[in-house]
Amino acid sequence: MSFTHIILTKQEKYAIVQFNRPEVLNALNMRLMEELVDALEILDKDPDVHCIILTGNEKAFAAGADIKEMADATAVEMVTRDQFARWDRIRKIKKPIIAAVSGFALGGGCELAMTCDMVVASETAKFGQPEINIGVIPGAGGTQRLTRAVGKVKAMEMVLTGRMISADEALRWGLINKVVPVESYLEEAKAWAKEIASKPPVAVRLAKESVLKAFDTTIEGGLEFERKNFYLLFASDDQKEGMKAFAEKRKPEWKGK
Ligand code: CAA
Repeated sequence: MSFTHIILTKQEKYAIVQFNRPEVLNALNMRLMEELVDALEILDKDPDVHCIILTGNEKAFAAGADIKEMADATAVEMVTRDQFARWDRIRKIKKPIIAAVSGFALGGGCELAMTCDMVVASETAKFGQPEINIGVIPGAGGTQRLTRAVGKVKAMEMVLTGRMISADEALRWGLINKVVPVESYLEEAKAWAKEIASKPPVAVRLAKESVLKAFDTTIEGGLEFERKNFYLLFASDDQKEGMKAFAEKRKPEWKGK
């Protein structure tokens, strides 16, 4: 499959998907989102890939959905086109996704970063939900994921004022994992991707699935789900190998089954 709005690079054991519309600060038009979701689904099935990095460039991770593309749409067109439904497919990706953010992560860009499993940001990153300034509200998870990540009052602040927050604020608010100098944000994300890719893949998959369960279930339901996944891993060779290697004081060799 050939892509024009993203650049897909495979490294040993992980892959990088880079948004490629620098002239419009990686505004997320429908084409880009279609390519992104297609690429993620391909990588999710690729046995050589164990972790995925999403990134933009130094100036912008993504400045949101493409405003010019949707400006003249009617409500009926927005409903029938249902462009944000495609974003739900990102939630179904089983492999860990790390956002490597520099510059603007606004609107859909911030929402996309929040859909990822971990976020590393450069000191220059700016996060925001500025949709209120153009007469709308976040439409791809911003009111829900942001509120779960930072709590009601801070989510209200961002969504009602449209104010951008700095990388340091985002770190303090629990929106992101780490802030590093701009020269190293991608390298940092790669280091994490390599580390995650070195773990037993079935356990990684069930770990991601179990943590995400916490967002849409009761504590009882979530604990039961986690416990069953824990027990299920005893059917894997990697569990036997991991525990045996621990007892034998050696490094485990994962088979991915
Ligand atoms: N959609 C379309 N084009 C965009 C864009 C977007 N979201 N963001 C930036 N661009 C374009 C600009 O129109 C401009 O194009 P031209 O050179 O052809 O005029 C180019 O990118 C560079 O942008 P600026 O000249 O504005 O750059 P700046 O450095 O002065 O400002 C900015 C940067 C503050 C990020 C500003 O571009 C901006 O406010 N962008 C819009 C941010 C926004 O409102 N995002 C939310 C979109 S709606 C949404 O995302 C809904 C959802 O929930 C999914």
